[in-house]
Amino acid sequence: MTILIKNGTVVNPAKKQEQVMDLLIEDGLIQKTGNGIRKEADTVIDASGCLVMPGLIDLHVHFRDPGQTYKEDIATGSAAAAAGGFTTVCCMPNTKPVVDCPEIVTYIVEKAKETGLTNVLPVGAVTVGMEGKTVTDIAAMKKAGICAISEDGKSVMNSAVYRKAMREAAKLGLPVLAHCEDINLVEGGVMNLDEKSEQMGLKGISNAVEDIIASRDILLAKETGARLHLCHCSTKDSVTMVREAKEDGILVTAEVCPHHFSLCTEDIPADEGNFKMNPPLRKREDMETLVQGLKDNVMDVISTDHAPHSLEEKSRGMEKSPFGIVGLETSAALTITNLVKPGYLTWMQMAEKMSYNPAKVLGIDRGTLNEGAVADVVIINPDETYEIDPDCFRSKGRNTPFAGKKVSGKVKYTILNGEVVYHD
Ligand code: DOR
Ligand code: ZN
Ligand code: ZN
Repeated sequence: MTILIKNGTVVNPAKKQEQVMDLLIEDGLIQKTGNGIRKEADTVIDASGCLVMPGLIDLHVHFRDPGQTYKEDIATGSAAAAAGGFTTVCCMPNTKPVVDCPEIVTYIVEKAKETGLTNVLPVGAVTVGMEGKTVTDIAAMKKAGICAISEDGKSVMNSAVYRKAMREAAKLGLPVLAHCEDINLVEGGVMNLDEKSEQMGLKGISNAVEDIIASRDILLAKETGARLHLCHCSTKDSVTMVREAKEDGILVTAEVCPHHFSLCTEDIPADEGNFKMNPPLRKREDMETLVQGLKDNVMDVISTDHAPHSLEEKSRGMEKSPFGIVGLETSAALTITNLVKPGYLTWMQMAEKMSYNPAKVLGIDRGTLNEGAVADVVIINPDETYEIDPDCFRSKGRNTPFAGKKVSGKVKYTILNGEVVYHD
């Protein structure tokens, strides 16, 4: 199988190269990049006016498989990933049962391989059953194929247990993906604590809920030498802490989700379940600091926290619906519309934060368009505008606050291992 991509703007973060040229894919690999490549190909793609980037990598998705496949399963999640331009995703372990042993890791790896639409890398739980008490057999799960450990959905509140897991992760060379939430401070909060929650008569979640655990986790990373990656940062102080930790030489990276850089509590129109996620939408000053943090490269990664739930579950309003929104099929467009087009990020930074940097966090050989690399590629028309329509999603989840929003940036092709897995 050969694919010749003609005249696209090739953005290759590994070489800091951005140039209109051709890209030839042969036998699953990028064979050649350059101008005027002549070659008989099975497929020729005219990419004029389009960006050609390394396939996007999402460090943070929930595929609900095993156990809650009415929300999503590995096949529908993979299809959503391909449609969103993603060629690798890391799926969080808060499934039913929890991913806390090699057998469940193997189940996910096998089912993802069968589906074949995206690379699915399972994340193993930090503690057995995510109960916060006993550290899992991380080495055994690593042998079965986990790419990281995480307790996403909550924090391991016992610092001694968490430190033990971090030491083990450091020894095994696995990153720790941290959901930062001091559960004792949440006190039934369902949205950010500010004027808006007061006005709506709902209980609030303060910034300290996140910041206290973020600071603890950074200190534990310093002590254990573990590679810490802070998930879904939502507060202005988290940006400050990450900046200072990096200056201190601590091995920390951080991600921001599209909803946190696109929306703030002012944008919540009504008591609507699709505006409920954890961490919640914060104040404008938090959102603006996150955008600045991305611009300054303090914040390394854009991830989705794709969290599908059923229509019925999300129709229960702010108080009663579960936390979480889908993101795989909107994140490239939201990044282009809200960060690149207004001038906060360059195309290069977009490719870094959505592909090259996540690959570095995982320590995998992806996220580049170098000759000889595995041909995971996305082709995006940045100028195509459309309205987000959840009914067109491949995901089973329709729970997005962005329905009807006009955006720029359409994924045209997703190529995985040299094969087209999605075509608009
Ligand atoms: O909004 C969220 N949804 N935050 C989490 O931490 C968990 C996730 C989920 O699993 O639904
Ligand atoms: Zn989380
Ligand atoms: Zn999550």
